[in-house]
Amino acid sequence: MARTHILVIDQGTTSTRSIVFDGEARRVAIAQREFQQHYPEPGRVEHDPEDIWRDVLATAREALEASGIAAADVAGIGITNQRETAVVWDRASGLPIHRAIVWQDRRTADRCHELRTDGVEDLVRERTGLLVDPYFSATKIAWMLDNVSGARARAERGELAFGTIDSFLLWRLTGGAVHATDVTNASRTMLFDIHRHCWDAELCRLLRVPEAMLPSVHDNAHVYGTTAADLFGAAIPVAGMAGDQQAALFGQACFAPGTAKSTYGTGCFILLNTGDQAATSANRLLTTPAYRIDGRTTYALEGSIFVAGAAVKWLRDGIGVITHASQTDDLATRVPDSHGVYMVPAFAGLGAPHWDAEARGAIFGLTLGAGAAHLARAALESVAFQTMDLIRAMAEDGSGRLAMLRVDGGMAANDWLCRFLADMIDAPVERPADLETTARGAAFHAGLATGVWSGLDELERLWSRERCFEPSMAAETRDRLAAGWHDAVRRTLSGNR
Ligand code: G3P
Repeated sequence: MARTHILVIDQGTTSTRSIVFDGEARRVAIAQREFQQHYPEPGRVEHDPEDIWRDVLATAREALEASGIAAADVAGIGITNQRETAVVWDRASGLPIHRAIVWQDRRTADRCHELRTDGVEDLVRERTGLLVDPYFSATKIAWMLDNVSGARARAERGELAFGTIDSFLLWRLTGGAVHATDVTNASRTMLFDIHRHCWDAELCRLLRVPEAMLPSVHDNAHVYGTTAADLFGAAIPVAGMAGDQQAALFGQACFAPGTAKSTYGTGCFILLNTGDQAATSANRLLTTPAYRIDGRTTYALEGSIFVAGAAVKWLRDGIGVITHASQTDDLATRVPDSHGVYMVPAFAGLGAPHWDAEARGAIFGLTLGAGAAHLARAALESVAFQTMDLIRAMAEDGSGRLAMLRVDGGMAANDWLCRFLADMIDAPVERPADLETTARGAAFHAGLATGVWSGLDELERLWSRERCFEPSMAAETRDRLAAGWHDAVRRTLSGNR
């Protein structure tokens, strides 16, 4: 019997999930675990790679068991992951030398400032499509090599390996046999030339990362290796890998130039397909490979917002305004407006288009009339306002007026947010039947590499819409709300404090 099921490992910033898809890309089983976040100092965020590995194994086994599909009948594994988060491990023992430094971590802000002062940014932009920011992996790797005793010398001798989470998981899944990554994850390091498709020796030297520790780079749909037989009872090919945001674009079937998606997870990331053109932005958006199949690259423009769901998590865990994230929907609709309250969720600095690593979160417009519902509403509104800024930046960069925006991720289940978003971007917002678009994208890649699906046409037919939210807000209301938001952002930027 042909193997048609795909096991996806979706390793996100706050949780790890494993999902089994059948040959029609329907979810058959899912297992999920949240894991511990470490905040050793303000602005620092770390994960224990062993926690991640433990949860990956546990959820993968659980999902397989719940699906009733034997490991021997799985066509392939797809991995998708939080991007940029850096892991460095010892090739001999397989043990990490430090906790993973997470994409949100700002500890290398000074180093990035130095690099910009040294005039490195143009080179970074030209070769990698990125800006110089602590968000990306390179300065995090260098930090570990400089702060873990003996690490730099060991890295230069080739004894240490670097990987983003996909690469670390691949290494562990294959029992240490394969050290590789895919083009989308490689492109988030600040070391990868997205035009020549190779690690850039000059950037490695400038950013002080020995090339000996870097993984080999492959297409997204590619058989990377097979799992060690003892892990799942049979060897399964690892057949697809992609960073979670690029995977979501793929899972949303945004294959045509001009199509765009926005994913609401911990952060929010908007990607606009620009076809085989690596379009550059005059508005500080990133140029990034969206997917590479059979050696052919499709590019995207990306707007990165560091805090979306994390603002709701903060309302719950940080200040206890809510007890469940889902309450925000109800709270937001209970009041007619935010009562003039604006939240700028710069908890991890501000990403596109500001790229201000020193900015910190702020709430403006508090009066005695403001309550929990207004705060919840302001948090949700901030997510839509940030999306609006990036869509406007993309339009200025030449994308033209967006025909529609496809949304996914946990927060996209919130009807109120989707409606408000459509109003603020003044374009229809399409919600797919399956909100697990990130995992779906990774399944698509693994399914293409193993022959479960024949090509993009077939994948497009597997996508379906659940609902479309049309904009209905009066232009003057939109302009007034946008002006209040822009004023709040201006006051939050570090240069204006
Ligand atoms: O670039 C960071 C991004 O990949 C994290 O995604 O889904 O964990 O917010 P998420």
